Amino acid sequence: MRAYSENARREGKRVGFVPTMGALHAGHMSLVDYARSACDALVVSIFVNPLQFDRADDLDGYPRTWQADLDMCAAHGVDVVYYPTADLMYPQGFQTKVSLGPMTQGLCGAHRPGHFDGVTTVVLKLFNAVQPHLAAFGEKDYQQLAVIKRMVRDLDLGVEVMGRPTVREKDGLALSSRNVRLSPQEREEALCLWRGLNQAREMARGGKKKASRLKIAAEAEIKAVASARLEYLEIVAADDLTPLEVLDRPARMAMAVWVGGTRLIDNAPLD
Ligand code: PAJ
Repeated sequence: MRAYSENARREGKRVGFVPTMGALHAGHMSLVDYARSACDALVVSIFVNPLQFDRADDLDGYPRTWQADLDMCAAHGVDVVYYPTADLMYPQGFQTKVSLGPMTQGLCGAHRPGHFDGVTTVVLKLFNAVQPHLAAFGEKDYQQLAVIKRMVRDLDLGVEVMGRPTVREKDGLALSSRNVRLSPQEREEALCLWRGLNQAREMARGGKKKASRLKIAAEAEIKAVASARLEYLEIVAADDLTPLEVLDRPARMAMAVWVGGTRLIDNAPLD
């Protein structure tokens, strides 16, 4: 992988990179299309990273659609698909991890122990292998995007991290590899996340600035669905993810909701 990138760099090419765990959908491909247009050589990685899963059943049940993934990459002009094995990434004796501070402790970090250490460790390893100029990440995983940006600055990685908007179904549900686990009824109920975000967004647009008010309104949309269980719902500063009581700077509402046995996350800016 590194030889390919060194060669591309020697030829003056700009190397773009989209890290993924496969089961590719239109959300992933929006990152691919962006990186394709901004770079000369385009790498996609497919690696279901065991280090970032906090539950064995989630890892075992993670959708794997290898052939369809390769076909999609080919159709979207990807030059290289990098798919290391777990043994190659974490050989015997592996013992180093990248661990960030407070930004990884709230939101998803508070409910998925070790998750962000797994993400930052693997993304640094992938960056070291791929040596990209630019890497694209989705706002769908907003905390992940903020954490990666922080790591790149803190460790002087010299990679341009580009955040891209969340791709949604027509009715508003954010595309996710885990959506395939929803039954038709749960698929319908999963819209409560989007309804909650919209409720808060409308209130913010209308000039409401108290975070607690917006949270109560959004929570009501989740509570209205019997099979939905709220894991967290927060309003945080858009840049460093500190919790806000008043919307006095760019803010983001983020939530995690269990619909049946599936954990869904979503977020939106509060302008
Ligand atoms: P994965 O969940 O496969 O997502 C890969 C990238 O696609 C992430 O940057 C994610 O934010 C983006 N993405 C997912 N759904 C999206 C949507 N609906 N709209 C826009 N972008 C979307 O995130 C990971 O993998 C892993 O944590 C990884 C970064 C690869 C490290 O293992």
